[in-house]
Amino acid sequence: MEKDLEKIRAHAKEAIRNAADLGFLEQIRVEYMGRKSALTAILRGLKDLPINARKRIGQEANHLAEEIERLLSERKRELGSVIRESILAKERLDVTMPGSRIERGHQHPVTKVLAEIEGIFGSMGFETVDGPEVETDFYNFEALNMPPGHPARDMWDTFWLKNKLLLRTHTSPVQVRYMEKHNPPIRIIVPGRVYRYEATDASHEIQFEQLEGLVVDTHISVANFKAVMQEFFSRFYGNHIEIQLRPSYFPFVEPGFEIFISCVICKGKGCSVCKQTGWLEIGGAGMVHPNVFKAVGYNPKQARGFAFGLGFSRMIMMKYKIPDVRLFNSGDLRFLKQF
Ligand code: PHE
Repeated sequence: MEKDLEKIRAHAKEAIRNAADLGFLEQIRVEYMGRKSALTAILRGLKDLPINARKRIGQEANHLAEEIERLLSERKRELGSVIRESILAKERLDVTMPGSRIERGHQHPVTKVLAEIEGIFGSMGFETVDGPEVETDFYNFEALNMPPGHPARDMWDTFWLKNKLLLRTHTSPVQVRYMEKHNPPIRIIVPGRVYRYEATDASHEIQFEQLEGLVVDTHISVANFKAVMQEFFSRFYGNHIEIQLRPSYFPFVEPGFEIFISCVICKGKGCSVCKQTGWLEIGGAGMVHPNVFKAVGYNPKQARGFAFGLGFSRMIMMKYKIPDVRLFNSGDLRFLKQF
């Protein structure tokens, strides 16, 4: 009988030690301590033993039962903490790990560069103004010294809408709109979309951006204009830019100029972008024509001013070396994500 108890003890110890999870442990408990276990059978059989043996065996069997209970609950605690540790290990959070980057939207290059341009002109005292993209014949042409039938109207291939409305071909109509409502001194820039009815290619779009400028006071000269351009372009491109004015014709200025800047790619040495000339054409300009001052009710003998219209899209293309103007409105994310 003692031998039986020893065997039970040895087996139970081993089984408990090897139990790998709580389910197993419960099975072991039933096996060694349950109603059908060998130990229970011994305890039940005690009453049939002679008194001496009953006492001895009874004590030993009870000790064994206590011991097994103790081992079981020890192992249970052990397994519990192992499980907790493995859960903790699995759910471990490394707070020092860098977060995953959330994709953010991008500013369109036009928006981005516009903010920069407004900053530069703003520091020179220019206010930013805008105007409608659907214009009347009066503001787009007539008030700009191009009465109906004026041949210079053909310089702008126009999208005509119903009722003599049109999509503005340049930002110059905003000069007129602004002067109608304000008296000199005036110092404004007008960035905005303009439209041309023409075939598209890498450097032509039916819709693109222009940057108009207007300064009016009493003693404004071409020298002032050149100085403003020099300052603006040098700051915009981040290095010294030369300005060259070549005589040209626009009905709303006299004299009129084409504005050239020294090539921003080769710095004037000659390259494929400037077609080996060292110069890039970047817009039109001139001294505001007296007829324009008359159209807005100014005294043309007193008012003096210059106006310019820069190829805003072209300036951005030069700054970022964008090869095709059509990319601006393509919606192509491969392009947009670069800004
Ligand atoms: N509006 C002219 C154009 O679109 C540019 C310009 C603006 C010329 C102002 C002179 C003065 O070509």
